[in-house]
Parts: sequence; structure tokens; C-alpha cells
Amino acid sequence: MISFKLTEEQEQIRQLARSFAAREIIPIAAEYDEREEIPWHVVEKAHEVGLMNLGVPVEYGGQGLDLLTGAIVAEELAYGCLGINGTFGANELALTPLLLAGTPEQKAKFLPPFCARPQLAAFCLTEPNAGSDAGAITTSARPEGDEYVINGQKCFITNGGVAALYTVFAKTDPARGLKGISAFLVPGDTPGLRGGKKEKKMGDRASHVAEVILEDVRVPRENLLGKEGDGFKIAMMTLDRTRPGVGAAAVGVARRALEEAIKYAKQRVQFGQPIAANQAIQFMLADMAMKVEAARGLVWKACWMLDQGLPATKESAMAKCFAADVAMSVTTDAVQIFGGYGYMREYPVEKLMRDAKILQIYEGTNQIQRLVIGRELLR
Ligand code: CAA
Repeated sequence: MISFKLTEEQEQIRQLARSFAAREIIPIAAEYDEREEIPWHVVEKAHEVGLMNLGVPVEYGGQGLDLLTGAIVAEELAYGCLGINGTFGANELALTPLLLAGTPEQKAKFLPPFCARPQLAAFCLTEPNAGSDAGAITTSARPEGDEYVINGQKCFITNGGVAALYTVFAKTDPARGLKGISAFLVPGDTPGLRGGKKEKKMGDRASHVAEVILEDVRVPRENLLGKEGDGFKIAMMTLDRTRPGVGAAAVGVARRALEEAIKYAKQRVQFGQPIAANQAIQFMLADMAMKVEAARGLVWKACWMLDQGLPATKESAMAKCFAADVAMSVTTDAVQIFGGYGYMREYPVEKLMRDAKILQIYEGTNQIQRLVIGRELLR
């Protein structure tokens, strides 16, 4: 029997996230979009009320939530502001390799001090010449005595330069291609690691995205996750688990656009009646609402499968891809319903449309998601 009834705990945390978005995020979202900065006070408050590090088990200082409950939270926070949700989402992304491949000693060493404070983490895979082709990274990690020495340059890194903990993918054996990639934990204060150029973005502007430069960064051998050569698989398994969270954020953005469009359509009078009285508008709203519901269904199914321990590479890619496309189309339609006002920064929907675009690009472009889905179908 399939049930869409949330548990009491899920309802409670949804309520917590929804009221947090209404109280702490929505009132400042436009300001931080303009300033292109992380609202650090919101990070502190989110940490205080238990809305960060959702997937980290309670014994290591996190919230111990399953992916479905995490998706419920992400939808609510992204409803408030995609960039602010993305700042927190980057923690889930960066900590997942440690949760998947870390030893109990590594988890005990790194997670409790990280989770004890409102700190950020960064997942460092992408490089200037290795985006969709993640296996083409050239950052190197050379063993030397009891240490690895890491050199390279990462780009488009959420929380890059402002994180306390970095998960860095680097080649330990370039001759072995994808099987020569390894994953490392690098504390943010390690000499040689620094943030580079901070990007100026179209949307998602309350998140901090920057280059990360690694120059002779020395980490002890204990900071290697899994074995040498496990890095690519760890990255792929991580993305399988986090892409539905991107889908959930997309549902939040799309739901916000739909609700803003409904409100506006009921208020805006043209030709002597609210524009909501026109079938042309009603049909648009109906399509928008169907897409939001369908996207949430895919997101929840992918999360549920992963929470059951079932393989869900295909469903995870479907959830991310479909929901991101929905966010783009629903926010575009919301701008259309607002007409000229929709294009103006004074109204909320132009930000939603600018924000939505990144959902089709990060954590694997929607073309890469279709490639993953296609490969799984033909396997
Ligand atoms: N789970 C486990 N293992 C997997 C896997 C998965 N989901 N997907 C692939 N692998 C394994 C394969 O089994 C294979 O191993 P074997 O050789 O032992 O069989 C190995 O990994 C190589 O797989 P492929 O041959 O499929 O590799 P590929 O080079 O053809 O490409 C790809 C794979 C799917 C295109 C991958 O490169 C990819 O996902 N690219 C997109 C990268 C991406 O999403 N980047 C986002 C960065 S994070 C971000 O955006 C963060 C931010 O700050 C917001």
C-alpha cells in the first residue's frame, strides 16, 4: 500500500521549515539576491533551530533525517530562497562522501566538531575543463610520506572559500583514468587552500560560488575517503543521493511561482475583471499546478527508493531533471501571468525565473541526467 501521508515527525519538520522560510528567509531574500551574499545570520539561525546537516546521524551532531524528510525541508527552504537553501544543500552534498565512504574514526573525527557550529562545507569536483566530464579532472594528489600533497584548481564551488570543510576529488594515479581518482577531506584552514574568484551569477545569488585553489595542500593519509581510486564512484554515489534534493528545491521554487501567480491573477483587473477569470490564465495555472505535483511525486519516489536502500540512479536523475525543467517552465509562466510587472525586480517572480535556470545546470546538467537515464534504460 502506498501512502502520501507524512509521519508526525515529517509534518512537524515541514512546519518548522515553512515557518522558518516565512520568518527568516522571505523577508531578506531580495536584499541578499541584490547584495550577492550569504546571509550569515540566517545560517546561524538555521543551525540553531536544527535545519542544517539534515542527513548527518544524530550521534555525529546532525539531524539524522532520511532523504524524503530532507526533501520536504529543501522544498520549504527553497520556496523562500533557492540561494539560501543551496548554501545548506552544499553541506549535504559535501558531507555525503564522508557518510558513504568514511570510516567510523573519520566520521567521529570530522563530523561532531563540524556540526557543533554553524559552518559550511564544499564539494570540490568541478574544474574549468571538467564539468559534465567529471572524470577529466586534473587536480593531483601525490603521496609523500604520511601525507598527500594536493595541487589544482576547482571552479563553480558552492561555499568555496568560505567553507570549514572541503571534500576534494583529485587524481592519485592519472594513468588509471576514472579509477585513478580519489576523494579527500580537507579542513578549510589547511595551508595552501584558498578561495579564488567569486562568481557573479544570473540567479541563485544569495549563495557563494567561487574557485577553490589548492597549492601544495598537505593532508594526512587518514583524510583519504575509501581507498585510492574510489573517488569517482564515491562522487557518483553521492550525486545519486543528492540530486533528488535539487529536485525538491526545484519543486519549492515552482510552487512559490505558482502561488504568486494565483494570488496576482486574482487581484489584477483588466477588461473589468480579474485576469484569473480568463480561461487562458486558468489553463496556464492548471498546467503549472500539474507539473509541480508530478515533480514532487518523482522527487519523493526517488527519495523513498534511496531510503529503502534500493538502487535509484535512474529515478534520482529523473527527479532532478524533471523537477528542474518544471521549475524553469513554471517560473517563466509566472512571469508571463504577471506581464510587465513580472519582469520588474519589484515583484518576486523575476528572481524565481533567474534562480530556476541553475537547477537545470548544477549537480549535472539536465542533458547529463538524460544521458544517465538513457544508459540505465538501455543497460
Ligand atoms: N553509482 C555507482 N557507480 C557509478 C555510478 C553510480 N551512479 N555511475 C557511474 N559509476 C561507475 C561506473 O559503474 C563505472 O565503474 P566501472 O568502470 O567499475 O564499471 C565508472 O563509475 C565510470 O562510469 P561511466 O563509464 O558511466 O563514466 P562516464 O565518464 O561515462 O560518465 C557521467 C559518467 C554520468 C557523465 C558523470 O561524469 C557525471 O555524472 N557527470 C556530471 C558531473 C556532475 O554532476 N557534476 C556536478 C558537480 S556538483 C555541483 O554542481 C555542485 C555545486 O556546487 C552545486
